[in-house]
Amino acid sequence: MFSFEELTKQFAQRFNTRHFPGTVPSLYEPAEYFLSMGGKRVRPVMCLMANELFGDIYPDAWHVADAIELFHNFTLIHDDIMDKATLRRGMQTVHAKYNEPTALLAGDVMMITSYECLSKINAPYLHKLMNIFNKTAKELCEGQQLDMDFEKRDNVTLEEYLHMITLKTSVLLAASLQMGAIIGGSGEGNQDLIYEFGKNLGIAFQVQDDYLDAFGDPQKFGKQPGGDILANKKTFLLIHALEVASASQKKELLGLISGNAPDKVAKTLQIFRDSKVDSWSKGLKDKYLDIALKHLDDIAVISSRKKPLQELAGFLVQREY
Ligand code: IPE
Ligand code: IPE
Ligand code: MG
Ligand code: MG
Ligand code: MG
Repeated sequence: MFSFEELTKQFAQRFNTRHFPGTVPSLYEPAEYFLSMGGKRVRPVMCLMANELFGDIYPDAWHVADAIELFHNFTLIHDDIMDKATLRRGMQTVHAKYNEPTALLAGDVMMITSYECLSKINAPYLHKLMNIFNKTAKELCEGQQLDMDFEKRDNVTLEEYLHMITLKTSVLLAASLQMGAIIGGSGEGNQDLIYEFGKNLGIAFQVQDDYLDAFGDPQKFGKQPGGDILANKKTFLLIHALEVASASQKKELLGLISGNAPDKVAKTLQIFRDSKVDSWSKGLKDKYLDIALKHLDDIAVISSRKKPLQELAGFLVQREY
């Protein structure tokens, strides 16, 4: 069996090539530019790992892995427009470097290319995987819309936040695992368990993303520090702070999120710190990591085969980028 690092290397060797041989460079160059910025490639590797949990990696799993990574990158290009983000993976985002219409089209063409990869897989799985892929893609759109709807509200509950991040982030991790498991020959029971593993791990993964957006080292994280605060995102950090802050701090925080003060990020971060968000976020992450690992435990294969996925889970919630 391969480690997470080894499979990441193998996937990169295959994936780091030109994807768009077309003849309109003003469209395809921005798309290639974005893919060349790298990224952790965790979703395709999760698909390959889930296949390997049940047996040797089949050629179809590589096509699905390509499809997943292209789809993920498409969502990021469009997400950066929605979030008005100018920096990702330490480089300029597509709409900032080129322009918004080009970023929309580069994303579109990447999504279509993703479906071309998916359509290469063999008939016995094609229909089932296509259904999972489509269901997941729609859920992701729902999550992204809720994420933006929440920007305009200041009474978002933790439960609503968890629902939103499940849709925008977790289901793609969960589906990547489930699709790999199907190709590996897993039965329905194990498929459900690996999906739940991914869904709960995905929640912990987005919690870490939101934490890093506020407190990460910008050099390592590669996105604009405090981007979520500037975009009025209703992350768990804000929800928690509003819940535990003193009356005066709560008033200050509500004032900050409704305006655009020059020190908005610094002041908001200070209130986050005062509300002990550090230890609270660790608790939240651990809660979902534990639920994830319990589902992994319950999968009916010998436990030594689960080691790479356990290691991956540990990495995803501790990561600094
Ligand atoms: C970013 O995903 C979007 C989220 C769901 C948080 P990743 O953190 O996997 O991004 P890359 O692909 O490694 O850059
Ligand atoms: C990302 O959430 C979810 C999707 C791209 C679908 P974020 O907006 O937090 O992701 P980053 O931080 O920009 O990568
Ligand atoms: Mg974003
Ligand atoms: Mg976003
Ligand atoms: Mg983020």
